[in-house]
Amino acid sequence: MNPPADAPLSDRKACVIGWPVSHSRSPVIHRYWLSEHGIEGDYVRMPVAPDRIEEFLTDFATSGYVGCNVTVPHKEIAFALVPNKEPSALETGSLNTIWLEDGVLHGMSTDGFGFVANLDQQAPGWDRTPGAAVVLGAGGAARPIVWALRARGIERIHVVNRTVGRAEALAAHFGETVRPAGWDSLPGLLSETSLLVNTTSLGMVGQPALEIDLDGLPETAVVDDIVYTPLETALLASARKRGNRIVDGLGMLLHQAVPGFEKWFGQRPEVTPALRQIVLDAMAEG
Ligand code: ATR
Repeated sequence: MNPPADAPLSDRKACVIGWPVSHSRSPVIHRYWLSEHGIEGDYVRMPVAPDRIEEFLTDFATSGYVGCNVTVPHKEIAFALVPNKEPSALETGSLNTIWLEDGVLHGMSTDGFGFVANLDQQAPGWDRTPGAAVVLGAGGAARPIVWALRARGIERIHVVNRTVGRAEALAAHFGETVRPAGWDSLPGLLSETSLLVNTTSLGMVGQPALEIDLDGLPETAVVDDIVYTPLETALLASARKRGNRIVDGLGMLLHQAVPGFEKWFGQRPEVTPALRQIVLDAMAEG
């Protein structure tokens, strides 16, 4: 990929925009990579109020930033205002990463990439076990994951959701690879599952627990929870006890940052145990 702007690397600055944005871990990740690569650029938190976001994006070329990440509540307006969107954005209807190219805004969604890259790193060969993928949840977090699973060639993806209509909407959007189901179908699906993914917020600190009986799930199945607070959710703990390979959600957070860094700073960074530890330390500090 080409460097995104003609500025020297040392002058490049990227940011994360949101309202509020003080909770974002992205600066920890990108500053670590900047330092690892010896780039004197910067990555900062940029609070942008809802009544300023349209102006901010419209005038982005004069902001001094080479690009940004977009977080709540600005994702929808960013999707509407960014003129050049990659398939990852167009096909998921969302974007989280923006960069300037020839003075024009471009956008992509890196969540699906991050999800699959994390699986590849933490559970290599996950896509070679026969069986179906079962995705729990059909909200905003499920969409890029289903997109990425399809892009990887997974042929059968069951989307299991409390509100079946939302799972049906995902199936209508993505086509017949995606099969909608209600929560009560889960026990019957488990025996043919090779990948089980929680995309709901259940199990996250402060949320109700995700209570699933994993009886019948093959031992070869990989269980992935995109929740990362706590790092080992009850779902992952029970999967680990049965001998299943488990994948936690922190890796997805780290991997989804890779394509943005490469666009802005021209170098492909790596997700390493050292980066993971630095982000864990930052989370422990609150
Ligand atoms: P996100 O953008 O994080 O995915 P969302 O769009 O609100 O957030 O989706 C949250 C997901 O968690 C949905 O699949 C939701 O199920 P519904 O579509 O039926 O609401 C699921 N979810 C949240 N709380 C739940 C609960 N108590 N039981 C079962 N599913 C729940």
